[in-house]
Amino acid sequence: MTPKHPSSDLQPTVRDYEARAKAILSADRVAYFFGGAADERTLEANQRAISEIELIPRMLRDLRGGSTRLTLLGQHMPHPILVAPVAYQRLVHPDGEIAMAMGAGAQDTVMVLSAQSSIDAAAVRAASSACTWFQLYWGPSRDANLALVQRMAGLGFSAIVLTVDAPVQGVRDSEARTDFQLPPDIKAVNLANVPVPQFAPLEQSESILFDRIAHIAPKWTDVEWLCRNSPLPVILKGIVHPADALLAVEAGAAAIIASNHGGRILDTVPASIRLLPAIVTAVNGSVPVLMDGGVRRGTDVLKALALGATAVLVGRPAIAGLTVAGPAGISHVLRLLRDELEIAMMLTGCATLKEITPGILYRNE
Ligand SMILES: Cc1cc2nc3c(=O)[nH]c(=O)nc-3n(C[C@H](O)[C@H](O)[C@H](O)COP(=O)(O)O)c2cc1C
Repeated sequence: MTPKHPSSDLQPTVRDYEARAKAILSADRVAYFFGGAADERTLEANQRAISEIELIPRMLRDLRGGSTRLTLLGQHMPHPILVAPVAYQRLVHPDGEIAMAMGAGAQDTVMVLSAQSSIDAAAVRAASSACTWFQLYWGPSRDANLALVQRMAGLGFSAIVLTVDAPVQGVRDSEARTDFQLPPDIKAVNLANVPVPQFAPLEQSESILFDRIAHIAPKWTDVEWLCRNSPLPVILKGIVHPADALLAVEAGAAAIIASNHGGRILDTVPASIRLLPAIVTAVNGSVPVLMDGGVRRGTDVLKALALGATAVLVGRPAIAGLTVAGPAGISHVLRLLRDELEIAMMLTGCATLKEITPGILYRNE
């Protein structure tokens, strides 16, 4: 009889968690957490493109002593699956980001705390050492941004993830149609002291986007400034073009997250997995490239690593785990992905993450 992975009797898959979460949440919260921008082409493409890549395994290799271990920005990690920043987690669980950090901690991984966390960063840090990276959306004042970064450094965060793909929110038809609104008790509490910019009256403005929002949106000069002044390494999230990946390295980024924001911002951007190879080629090993978007199976992790990612992040799968079963649910979702990755490594003949190369991807030329 073929030996089984010890955990392969566990029935639920990551997709089962998502289906259950959608059944539990109200329609507007399903739209917020599981919907995407506009016609949701990018949302759908993220999962489809990764699942369409075929694997061509190698047999009879010596896999003794293998592992999923890696070192990322100096941190030793048992596996390459991180928790992506997701806003307002108290919408799905009363303990919100604290529960998420506990679940991530149980699987010894990094959780990225969203700038729009619904719980104070100090409380999340105190709950679990897993919450080590803080995600920042650029605010109007350089000094206020730096003060926030310094506060996070003081709390023991080890990196800043600057998200650059969302100077304005995408077109969210599904949220509008279900009338999604934040309840008054759920707020971005860590941004309470960030100054609100003053603008000329609306009547004098032809376009709110170009006359107002464009004035506070970050530019490459701001990224350079932040990388120079931040006490913590800065990781740029939301890079999709290889030329921007190069600019990120030149600006001083410590790592890049190839991401289309899970299809929530600009619809019809290609799937993350399709964007990854050109970004990896552009940076040529100078900084680690991580990827998120559409990872739902251990084979998805394997494919991202084969195409040059150092690690992946999961957004909605972690939210599904949090919704269904709190910290235990998140921990289980991460464990499922890790176990499936191990199985996929063994079945493709890869004993270590370094052995996962494009050679395991089938190209029907
Ligand atoms: C409901 C929701 C809220 C999100 N909030 C943030 C955020 O505050 N900051 C950020 O950088 N990315 C945010 N993201 C994007 C995720 O970090 C990540 O890029 C995306 O979820 C990855 O795709 P996946 O959900 O298919 O794993 C959010 C995603 C979702 C689904």
